Amino acid sequence: MFPTPTAKLPQRFALKDKTIVITGGARGLGLSFATALAEAGANIAAIDLNDSPPSELDKLQALGVKAKYYAANVQDYDGLRNTIERIAEEFGSIDGCIPAAGIMRDKPFLEHTAKDINDVMGVNIIGVMYTVQHCAAQMVKQNTGGNIVCISSSAGHHGCAPMTCAAYVASKHAVLGLVKQVAGELAQHGIRCNSISPGTMRTAMLKQIFEDTPGREQLLNSGSMLKRVGEPDELHGAMLYLMSDASSYMTGNDILVDGGKL
Ligand SMILES: NC(=O)c1ccc[n+]([C@@H]2O[C@H](COP(=O)([O-])OP(=O)(O)OC[C@H]3O[C@@H](n4cnc5c(N)ncnc54)[C@H](O)[C@@H]3O)[C@@H](O)[C@H]2O)c1
Repeated sequence: MFPTPTAKLPQRFALKDKTIVITGGARGLGLSFATALAEAGANIAAIDLNDSPPSELDKLQALGVKAKYYAANVQDYDGLRNTIERIAEEFGSIDGCIPAAGIMRDKPFLEHTAKDINDVMGVNIIGVMYTVQHCAAQMVKQNTGGNIVCISSSAGHHGCAPMTCAAYVASKHAVLGLVKQVAGELAQHGIRCNSISPGTMRTAMLKQIFEDTPGREQLLNSGSMLKRVGEPDELHGAMLYLMSDASSYMTGNDILVDGGKL
């Protein structure tokens, strides 16, 4: 089911004519991955909550790929399945899946409300399970194999001090567990499943936290060997590696890109 790649290395990174579903694709890391993968030749189906698409998505068409936006909530099991089935019809196949939609609540554990906990778990692990299941079901139906790259976090490997985000940390540990189990079950279908664990990356999610809590940025900077937060495009190499045949012998595993956590 997994042929040993014979192409030369640069060709093994190519994603021409592959269709990749990205949740949280309207901004932040999801949109940044969409741009990088389109540059490698992939067609992009971006899913997010807003009714209207981000302007950046249209610009990807100039790269000669198809890029389309779909409004859906990853917490809506049936609605998400319908959206993913529509994507498969409109693009002809689904070859890759990046469940990048995620939220964070930065408040002490004892102040987490039931809603905070349910919201974070609902998007970050339940929504990821729904997305991975619907995309994998389509890949199995096509019998084409496929590639799933989940987004955990350095917070999925340890805590995320100096921030206070217990539900988030728990959800990101859960993503790593999901990847391990799902990879084992889907290997028979030629589907690989891995994850990337970013450290602190400069996106809107983080900007809000920096604005709400002065001094947070300096504290987070000092927690890495490189003494700075990462830029979204510093994850592109890891994403392209995992999403392409370049990583053909890797599944059920994770790449931690965190600037060297201290
Ligand atoms: N930025 C970081 O430092 C960092 C670090 C490690 C991991 N991550 C993870 O990377 C992923 C992307 O984070 P980001 O920083 O780009 O965040 P972001 O807030 O900039 O983007 C997240 C996107 O997810 C969408 N989204 C949220 N809930 C949704 C739902 N129910 N259905 C559909 N879409 C939904 C949002 O609308 C938004 O467009 C998340 O899973 C996050 O946990 C981020």
